[in-house]
This record gives sequence, C-alpha cells and structure tokens, in this order.
Amino acid sequence: MTAAPPTIEEWARLPAEQQPDWRSHPAHGRVRTKLAEAPALVFPEELRALRAGLAEVAAGRAVALQAGDCAESFYESTAEHVAGKLAALESLATHFADRAGIPVLRIGRLGGQFGKPRSAPTESVDGEDLLAFHGHLVNSEIPSPAGRRPDPRRLLWGYQFASEAQRAMRRLRETGEPVAESINPGPWSSHDALVLDYEGPLVRTDEATGDRYLASTHLPWLGARTADLAGAHVALLSTIVNPVAVKVSTRMTPAALIALCAALDPERVPGRLTLIPRMGATTIAAALPPLVRAVRSAGHPVVWLSDPMHGNTIRTASGRKTRYLDAMVAEASAFNVLLSAHGSHPGGLHLETAAEAVTECVGGSVGSERELADNYTSLCDPRLTSDQAIALIDRVAVEPKE
Ligand code: PEP
Ligand code: CO
Repeated sequence: MTAAPPTIEEWARLPAEQQPDWRSHPAHGRVRTKLAEAPALVFPEELRALRAGLAEVAAGRAVALQAGDCAESFYESTAEHVAGKLAALESLATHFADRAGIPVLRIGRLGGQFGKPRSAPTESVDGEDLLAFHGHLVNSEIPSPAGRRPDPRRLLWGYQFASEAQRAMRRLRETGEPVAESINPGPWSSHDALVLDYEGPLVRTDEATGDRYLASTHLPWLGARTADLAGAHVALLSTIVNPVAVKVSTRMTPAALIALCAALDPERVPGRLTLIPRMGATTIAAALPPLVRAVRSAGHPVVWLSDPMHGNTIRTASGRKTRYLDAMVAEASAFNVLLSAHGSHPGGLHLETAAEAVTECVGGSVGSERELADNYTSLCDPRLTSDQAIALIDRVAVEPKE
C-alpha cells in the first residue's frame, strides 16, 4: 500500500470535487502565479511544533479545541475582528482546560477558512436559479447572478486577509505561556483545503529538509465531500508534511477509512493524522465503533476530535439552518463514551463558534427558533456563541451519558 506519494503534477490531474469553474477568467493564470510567488503563511518549524502537540493529544496527555466560523467573512477580517475571534477561542480553551484537567491545543478555523463545499451546486432564490455561495474565496453571498459569479481575484484577497490573521496568531504564540513541555498551545490555524487553485500554488519546499509543505495553513482538513481516496484533495494532502485532518461522515466505511489512513499516514506518525467524526446524535452510536476498531487494528496513532455540529443541522419551518445544543451535547458525549470504551482517547472538540452574541443555534440564551431572526449573521452554517459553547463543554466534559 505504500506507493510513493503523487507529485504536484500528478495530483493536479486527478478529479477534484467542488471546484469553481473560473479557468476562462482573464485573471486566473496571473492569480496563480502571484500566489506561487507569495511568501509562505506558515513555516516548517511551526508545523513540527503543532505536530508535536497533536502527538500529545493522540497519546491522551492533551486535548484539542478547534473552533471558529463555518465560513470566515472578508467583511469580518479586520485586525479587530481577528483579535475578537482569538480572544473568544482563548477563553473557550481556558475553560476547556479547567474542565479537562489537561493541556488544550488551540486551533482556529481561522486564517483561510474562506472556501465552502456545498451539497447542491445551485440554489433557487425568488424563482431564479443561482450558483451556490462557495465562500468568500470563490464568490459573494449576495444572491444575484453577478454576486455568485466565481472570481479568482478573491484568492489574492483571501491570501491577504489570511496573512494578517496568521501574523496575529504568531504574535500570540510567541508571547503566550507554554502549557506543558512539548506543547505550544497555539493558537494554530486550520481550514478546509478545498479550493485547489489556492492550495496548489501555496505548496512550498522546506529548504532544510527537502520536505514539501502546504504554506497556507498549519492544519489543512478535508471535508466530508472531498475525502475521496481517488481524488485530487487526498493526493495533495498525501504529498505534504503538515499535520492533516479528515472529516468522517456516516457514509465512510471501515475499509475506505483504512485506505485513507494508509494514504495520509503511511508511516503511522503520532500527530500526523486527525480524524473528525461528524455523524449526528442519533447515528453516531452505530456508525463510529466499527471505524474506531478498524483504525486501532491498523495501528494508526490518530487524534480523534468530535464535530458535533455538521451531523445535527436542521431547517426550521421558515427555512433557516439551525442546530440544537442538546443534540450537539448528545453527539459529543456519545463520542467520548464510545472512544473511551474502545480504548482510544477522545481528543477534543471541533466547533463552529462566533465571537459575537449571534442567534444561530437553539439552546441556552437562545430559547427558541423564534429568536433566530434576531442576530443571524453566519455566511453559512449556524454557530455557537461563546456562552453556548461553554455550556456544551460543561455538559460534555462533566456528565458524559451512560
Ligand atoms: C464545515 O466544517 O464547515 C463543513 C462543511 O464540514 P463537512 O465537510 O464535515 O460537512
Ligand atoms: Co460548517
């Protein structure tokens, strides 16, 4: 199974899901060239530090909190916004550390979380068929034909915003307290490595080691829709030395997951691979155990994080997407119980959170679906407020079900 990883030229020829159709745009080629010449946003020594921290999580001596927007917004990427998001992440992580009693790695969905996979390529708005919104890296959320037209120049704007956010995170890492030997708590960056015209040109070579790494973020992850073993996304991640993560939906079979682990973690390196089940409160108990058993018996020292958000999204009668805190608590609690029962370490949480007092998920301060209209500003999926996320952390950490 340990074939040589594909080269850049090879992975780019493989089929890729969820890519914008913008190659005929006059700026497409120039944008790719500019990204290829741009400074790296993250550095090899940082990737090694994060991998060391994730190895501690894999060993059960730490946990991780990965949190932030579903879709980062260009409108909310000023220094003030980024500082607010990082302060919110820090306060959640501090709370999580108090409850868990072990160090917490802070990983933002930040500094490049601008591209969104979508279930349907188009949507109907007032009787008009429009391309779906794919995140500010691709098009605009404004529901008009012009707004939804993919524009590759957005890749450069995204790079600029990411660059500022990366600088803010680096300042905090350099001035923060170490939480344990061999753990720099972060904040580290992560995003869905979705848009290959962004990620591909940002692959760099570490001059010291000859290793290839993805210079767009510390921890690239693959979403449930782009984790196909035969596709370009998995091949790209197999060529780089960053720690990498993959979302695991109920569609994943044990055989497919083992093949993915073999492609992404052939050397079985602790901290290299993070698996993020996102299954749904009612399906996780049946779906997760066979996958955990398969990964254990194949000997991959993975980090397991629970994403209790994406399997618990519902639509209200008025068509708004929301999530109930109770369902999220139930999934994350079941995750903890199931991992522990299989002798694996529940490695923490992957959450969608907002720094502001939004009204997007129901529970705690948002008493009912009627209140969702009050301050629903997410560009994509509904996020927890800090108060809701703290309630979730308390209920999951303190009283796991059964
Ligand atoms: C997300 O994390 O916003 C997302 C789209 O997740 P998934 O790929 O698991 O659906
Ligand atoms: Co989301």
